[in-house]
Amino acid sequence: MVVGIGLLVNAVLVAIPIGGSVGALMGIDAHRSATGQKPLFTGGTDDDSGSIGNGGGSNGGTHGGSEVVPNDDGITRISKCDVSYGIIPPSKTEQYTLNPNPWGVKAGSDVGDLCLDVLMWNNATYPTNTAPEFSVTWQYDQGPNTAPVHAYPNIRVDDVLPKKMSDVKELYVDVHWTYGVGKNKTAETTDIDALKDIDLSTNVAIDMFLDSDKEKAENGTNAKFEVMVWFWMSSVTAQPHGWSNPGKNKTIEGQTFTLFQDKNSEGTMVLSWVARPFLTDALEKFTGDIYPLIEELYTTENDDYPSTDDYLGSLSFGTEAYDVKEHVTFSVPKYEIAIKT
Ligand SMILES: *[C@@H]1O[C@H](CO)[C@@H](O)[C@H](O)[C@H]1NC(C)=O
Ligand SMILES: *[C@@H]1O[C@H](CO)[C@@H](O)[C@H](O)[C@H]1NC(C)=O
Ligand SMILES: *[C@@H]1O[C@H](CO)[C@@H](O)[C@H](O)[C@H]1NC(C)=O
Ligand SMILES: *[C@@H]1O[C@H](CO)[C@@H](O)[C@H](O)[C@H]1NC(C)=O
Repeated sequence: MVVGIGLLVNAVLVAIPIGGSVGALMGIDAHRSATGQKPLFTGGTDDDSGSIGNGGGSNGGTHGGSEVVPNDDGITRISKCDVSYGIIPPSKTEQYTLNPNPWGVKAGSDVGDLCLDVLMWNNATYPTNTAPEFSVTWQYDQGPNTAPVHAYPNIRVDDVLPKKMSDVKELYVDVHWTYGVGKNKTAETTDIDALKDIDLSTNVAIDMFLDSDKEKAENGTNAKFEVMVWFWMSSVTAQPHGWSNPGKNKTIEGQTFTLFQDKNSEGTMVLSWVARPFLTDALEKFTGDIYPLIEELYTTENDDYPSTDDYLGSLSFGTEAYDVKEHVTFSVPKYEIAIKT
């Protein structure tokens, strides 16, 4: 959707407010706060590049400052804290948007804080389909039962969606992530017991929105279906919709996932494939095609399930930040997604 950003030569970092694609997960209030704001950055080398901010389906477009990265083969670390802005690292291949995406939590709040760091390649020439490395460091106190989630920091693939499901042949994912104790501390592996000791409540998942209407599929607030692939849930406090009623199993690439389903408070049917075993094991690395998990849903004659006529409008990967006693860091050294038609 951010047409032309990939063409920017020598890397002017752009950040724009995000439209509603992660709206359902974010909640409507968050969606509102995430729209209609000025872009953080606009083109620095081109005086007229304010229009870049308009690409995000927002009201952006006014100059909000600029951050120019060097014209070399180095790496620039961008750190954004407590903002609902999309960070769009220029890329000559796939375009990704990263959003710290706290909702209802303002900077300086005593509820907690969240920062997202992106390691941006100054030359914008990532390997095909590969996203920049990023990490999220956060700590939030427990929220009310009605609004337990404080943020959904995520990375979303742009430009390639929406796509009709019958045209999609493969959803190839290559991901490596870890969660660790400590502020801005990348863990080599996820120490589940250490994270349990500080009462971490979170999940790590791919989040997709589908609808028979192309436009609705792009907007999480309006989409009929949300299909998720969970790589980890840290505790039952961060459970999927329909947790008390596990459905069928499906094994792909040697990994078994169990389906949970229920409507969320906005009426969206949420279908969550959760990696087994639950809680005790974190699926830190996954490489392969996740399309069979969606395909499996077609085979069931059921209005509650998507069909091949539906559009896939949005695909993001991230972590829902509920609460934790100390700072934790979610690191993603590798994320690659290829939607093959
Ligand atoms: C998404 O849908 C909501 C609710 O209908 C609407 O308020 C919002 O403007 C839409 N967002 C986009 C980006 O179209
Ligand atoms: C671009 O920068 C990255 C990161 O420093 C480096 O690994 C890569 O080799 C560079 N690519 C080219 C084509 O120079
Ligand atoms: C994380 O650490 C790096 C390197 O030490 C630093 O540049 C960056 O600003 C830190 N980020 C946050 C959110 O503290
Ligand atoms: C799914 O797999 C788990 C673990 O192997 C098993 O305990 C459970 O009974 C299976 N569920 C169904 C519906 O087959």
